[in-house]
Amino acid sequence: MRGKFITFEGPEGGGKSTHVKELAEQLRAEGRTVLMTREPGGTRLAELIRGLVRDEVDDPPVTRSEVLLFLAARAQVVSQVIKPALARGEWVLCDRFADSTFAYQGYGRGIDVKLLRQLNEFATEGLTPDLTILLDVPLETSRERLAERQAATATSADRIEQAGEMFHRRLREGFLELAKAEPERFVVIDSSGAREEVSKKVRDAVLSLEGR
Ligand SMILES: Nc1ncnc2c1ncn2[C@@H]1O[C@H](COP(=O)(O)OP(=O)(O)OP(=O)(O)O)[C@@H](O)[C@H]1O
Ligand SMILES: [Mg+2]
Repeated sequence: MRGKFITFEGPEGGGKSTHVKELAEQLRAEGRTVLMTREPGGTRLAELIRGLVRDEVDDPPVTRSEVLLFLAARAQVVSQVIKPALARGEWVLCDRFADSTFAYQGYGRGIDVKLLRQLNEFATEGLTPDLTILLDVPLETSRERLAERQAATATSADRIEQAGEMFHRRLREGFLELAKAEPERFVVIDSSGAREEVSKKVRDAVLSLEGR
């Protein structure tokens, strides 16, 4: 049987990385084989591309290059990691996927979302998540959590995190619109509450998937 493909999306600091890990631990404790990956990344080449799109450089990619770099990374991880794992019957949890392209490069940077969908279809050969968990947080919460994380890890904001407030507002609205357009695939979770609460909601969303 084909495994399940679950993606986590949402604004920065929403808790994607936190909850991907927690869910993976829970599923593994129940005896399932879980593959955890992230985007951009998940293969050697895709991780190199991650560096290219995030690093602060004096010749940052123009928006069209940015789209193509993200999609190149996606094509790699889909064909080399995600599809083979699903074919083996594993659960694949991915920290960001196609909806981040639609939200960041579409709603955020103004590229036609329809065009992005076509390009994404090419990159993924049509692979769509069984479930997408949108961890939604207000801009202020996102900012606070990023600041705390940067302080804790002694890092600074990357190129995309540094984009202005209007960009981040469009991004959040974009994610919510994407979810509204595909209610059968998305579960929107308010991630501004306590971590355990959010974790329980994630678990409930996944349980509903198992029944399908
Ligand atoms: N419910 C929560 N309450 C308080 N803090 C939280 C909660 N969930 C996550 N955090 C903290 O917020 C920070 C950001 O969480 P995390 O890195 O999981 O977010 P993310 O969505 O992966 O962000 P990014 O898009 O930047 O990768 C972390 O320091 C994490 O410990
Ligand atoms: Mg993260």
